[in-house]
Amino acid sequence: MRTTTLPDGEAVPVLGQGTWMMGEDRRHRAEELRALRHGLDLGLGLIDTAEMYGEGGAEELVGEAIAGRRDEVFLVSKVYPHNASRAGAVAACERSLKRLGTDRLDLYLLHWRGQHPLAETVAAFERLRADGKIRHWGVSNLDADEMDELVGVPDSARCATDQVLYNLCRRGIEWDLLPWCRRRGMPVMAYSPIEQGRLPTGGVLSELAQRHGCGPFQVALAWVLAQDGVIAIPKAGRPKHVEANAKALDLVLAPEELAAIDRSFPAPVAKEPLAML
Ligand SMILES: NC(=O)c1ccc[n+]([C@@H]2O[C@H](COP(=O)([O-])OP(=O)(O)OC[C@H]3O[C@@H](n4cnc5c(N)ncnc54)[C@H](OP(=O)(O)O)[C@@H]3O)[C@@H](O)[C@H]2O)c1
Repeated sequence: MRTTTLPDGEAVPVLGQGTWMMGEDRRHRAEELRALRHGLDLGLGLIDTAEMYGEGGAEELVGEAIAGRRDEVFLVSKVYPHNASRAGAVAACERSLKRLGTDRLDLYLLHWRGQHPLAETVAAFERLRADGKIRHWGVSNLDADEMDELVGVPDSARCATDQVLYNLCRRGIEWDLLPWCRRRGMPVMAYSPIEQGRLPTGGVLSELAQRHGCGPFQVALAWVLAQDGVIAIPKAGRPKHVEANAKALDLVLAPEELAAIDRSFPAPVAKEPLAML
């Protein structure tokens, strides 16, 4: 598995598995479990979940999928903004650990900014880290100006990532946030890397897919994976999609192919507000 590094030098896989909208419908449970476990078999050991997903249902599903395989996984979960107070984040993390059937998270993120001051959330994260309940912490959906604000908070140098919307039709972060993170050796986690399956797949994506004998979403994923310091976390509830996504790791796009993609999906030419889903 290709890896990138967190600011403290720890290696993490560049391709993981998302879980939003999993663990919500019992009829899909067996297939979702197979998909997550197949992902682990293929080396997609980073699993991203959140207390929000299925109101704990996704964490329970992940707990079942990784039972007996905890050491193969870099486990990421997120706290709701309304739980992200000094005491609330600690309690929320303990509930997440229980649902996940583990004693520690590898990474715990503030899901998006809410009413609690960042300093309080960071203090909670640092307490969880000192207690061994989380190994790293980070944020999600924070724009560059908010990351600047975070820098003023004690212990903020331990922030390990910003998880944000990033894909071919959502390139706004390339203007400022992605360079900001790169300067600090902090990887960005790209969520919805194929825009929840809504990326336009005609044109250049189809042409390149034909040339490489794969699907257009694999080309889109390979493009995300070609960006330095970016981790992609596509969600796939079906094993065949997990398999296709894992193959995107082997798809190397030539400079002229990347240039053709840029012509159809241009990079930003000015600041764009951070997009969210
Ligand atoms: N921090 C945040 O605020 C935030 C926000 C959104 C998402 N996220 C995280 O990022 C993860 C990924 O984002 P997402 O779930 O929004 O969207 P996504 O990964 O861009 O797309 C998921 C959709 O694409 C389909 N799919 C996956 N691989 C495919 C393939 N190879 N070919 C065809 N279809 C494919 C999936 O179908 P099947 O499921 O049927 O296989 C699913 O419908 C989430 O699950 C979550 O963990 C975080």
